[in-house]
Order: sequence, then structure tokens, then C-alpha cells
Amino acid sequence: MRIDAILSRYGYCSRREAAQWVKRGRVTVPGKSLRSPSDKAEPAEVLIDGKPVEFVNGLYVALNKPLGCTCSHKEEGDLVYDLLPPQWLNRSNGVSTVGRLDKETSGLLLLTDDGAFVHALTSPKKHVPKVYAFETLTPIPETAVAQFASGEFMLENETTPCLPAELEITAPCSGLLTLHEGRYHQVRRMLAAVGAPVCSLSRIAIGSLRLEDLNLAPGEWGEIDPHLFT
Ligand code: URA
Repeated sequence: MRIDAILSRYGYCSRREAAQWVKRGRVTVPGKSLRSPSDKAEPAEVLIDGKPVEFVNGLYVALNKPLGCTCSHKEEGDLVYDLLPPQWLNRSNGVSTVGRLDKETSGLLLLTDDGAFVHALTSPKKHVPKVYAFETLTPIPETAVAQFASGEFMLENETTPCLPAELEITAPCSGLLTLHEGRYHQVRRMLAAVGAPVCSLSRIAIGSLRLEDLNLAPGEWGEIDPHLFT
């Protein structure tokens, strides 16, 4: 691949700016002497300011999403993308969240530049379990456990019932809910429908990936292995 194509593909600079980067010696390839941005190399062997090109085989990252920021590229206010190195957003494939969390939901959020990965995790056919910890304003009725597990639980304005979901009530006003799909505001709507409105919500796991194992403070991100989900 041409050096200028590598620099722009991975978000470092535009193809036009690449000549300056090469001239200033910011781009090196061990064992080769680079003269021009049209010289070729494997992305994995290129060093930029002495460091390997980031995420040459795809960007897969977990973010501990703080409360108050939105999973959107365009909305007003704080965005999850503001928490990431700007260079990631200039990668030619772009970076997007894998599904979304509400502005007022915190916790485990995945980001990637790999469209197939997004599809694999969000497709309703794949049923990757997502675990949410929540607190409610009023006690959660015990009957909700069987209702949510039944596969017949209907949400307002929906035409198909929710897939069976596992509810564990851990205290009168708190619990864990495992979903195998991702409908709009699903956790809040399910609990509101059984008379226990949610006042605090956080996603704590996706498949076998658990937020507590990642040691990420709110707002921090870390690289993950995409094969965890296959
Ligand atoms: N369910 C919700 O209600 N909100 C989220 O952010 C995720 C699941």
C-alpha cells in the first residue's frame, strides 16, 4: 500500500499532507529508506513518530460510557466520540458505536471501524446477551421475572413480543436484566411496563465481556479482542 494511502486510511493526515510527514522523517519503515509518499509498504511495518500504525487490523475498543453523553456523531452536547483520540474518527472507515446506550445510561459500549462486527453484535438473529444493572423508583414485582422470561411480553407500540429475558431481583428496587436483543429504551420500557420505573441504568456485560474485568474508569477506553464474540 502507498505510504500516503496508509496515512490517510488510518486517520493520521490527508494524502496531500503525507509528503510533509515523509519529508520530516515522521514516517519510517525499518530496513527501508522512504523517499516519497508514493513508496509502498505493509501498514503493519510502518512506524509513525516511532510507533506502529494503530489498529492496522481493525479498531475494536470498549468504552466505559459516562452518564450524560450521547452515542451520536451530530447531536448537540457531549458525545461519546469526544472521548476518543480525534485521529480515530479520521480513519477512512469511520468509527461507530456498536448499538447505542441512552444519554442517561452508563457502562460498557463497544466501538469499531468494522461494519461486519457491528452487524454480528447487533443483528437480532445473533442474540448476543447484554446485561444491565438497574435501580427503580418503586419495588420490582416478583411476577416480572416470569413475564419477562415468557417470550410473550409485549411493549407498547410494538408488534412482536420481547425475546425471553432474564430478570434477577437483587433488592426491592434493584436488579439485573439480561436481554438478547436491543429495542429502543428496552430496559426502561420493560420495567416501566411492570410499574417499576428505572432511575439508574448501566450496562455491565456484553457476551462474555464484563465491564468490571476491564478496569476502565468512566470515560476511559481499552482495546478488546473481537474474537471474544465469535
Ligand atoms: N435499555 C435502555 O432503556 N437504555 C439503554 O441505554 C439500553 C437498554
